[in-house]
Amino acid sequence: MNDQAARLRRKIEMKQNPKQAKTICVISGKGGVGKSNTSLNFALELVNHGKKVLLFDLDVGMGNIDILLGTHARKTILDMFNGFESIHDIIEVENNGLAYISAGSGLNEFFSLDDSKKDFFMNQYTELIGLYDYILFDMGAGIHTDSLFFILAADECIVITTPEPTSITDAYSVIKHIIKHQGKMPIQVIMNRSLSQKTGEQALERFRQVIKQFLQVDIIKMGILPEDQAVSQAVVKQKPYIFNEKLSITKALKQITANYLKNTTELNSIHPTFIQKLKQLLIER
Ligand SMILES: Nc1ncnc2c1ncn2[C@@H]1O[C@H](COP(=O)(O)OP(=O)(O)OP(=O)(O)O)[C@@H](O)[C@H]1O
Ligand SMILES: [Mg+2]
Repeated sequence: MNDQAARLRRKIEMKQNPKQAKTICVISGKGGVGKSNTSLNFALELVNHGKKVLLFDLDVGMGNIDILLGTHARKTILDMFNGFESIHDIIEVENNGLAYISAGSGLNEFFSLDDSKKDFFMNQYTELIGLYDYILFDMGAGIHTDSLFFILAADECIVITTPEPTSITDAYSVIKHIIKHQGKMPIQVIMNRSLSQKTGEQALERFRQVIKQFLQVDIIKMGILPEDQAVSQAVVKQKPYIFNEKLSITKALKQITANYLKNTTELNSIHPTFIQKLKQLLIER
């Protein structure tokens, strides 16, 4: 009965909110460039702006959002797939209002889902669309066949890179791969671990020009994040850096978030949903 009441309440909430959550995939070519830290702190800053946010840890077998938050998720996405539990039951909510789903471990199974589990996921995900403003996917590094489904169905991507040539070339490959399948995907790039504002901006502009010249696509320069040892200190303390306003990394991420919110447009009901796109991708396979 309680379950029924909860379902009804969510349906009413969704009807009252004609908006759709914007699904954003946070990706990179090379691993360890700062996706999880950036998506977590970005998500928290969106919450600071009064947005309803769900952070979805989709890092195959190595999810770490709950570790970065210093919490322990009672349930993970595996409970949803193995136990066919409702997606609402695996969502954890932090004191400040950030909702997240833990990837757990052994998530490899997630990406070899059979059709019935994929269907189940899609139905569950549909229930979330009207409840949040933003749903962020923290993906594993690189792209593989299954994660490409999620990436291509998203409304936009944030590509994280550092100024190192290896990170840049891998980010280029990832963008090329996405563009090949979905030429209209909005791609925003963050240059993380920049040694100075000037060199970071130069690296980001060079990257934009290369993408424009060789892939004929205009990426959105989302911004620069500095190299700051406060990031690894925050990881050790298990307390996201955004809570310390004095840090240069915090100031930079706050600026990036404010610019993002200023320039972004809200989705309306005409926009094809993540689920519609996901279904289409499954049919086309
Ligand atoms: N701006 C920064 N300044 C200094 N160190 C950083 C910065 N960003 C990230 N790091 C370091 O890089 C480490 C890896 O970051 P993070 O886990 O966010 O990367 P990731 O891209 O999610 O990695 P993976 O590909 O394994 O998922 C952090 O623990 C931190 O030590
Ligand atoms: Mg990560």
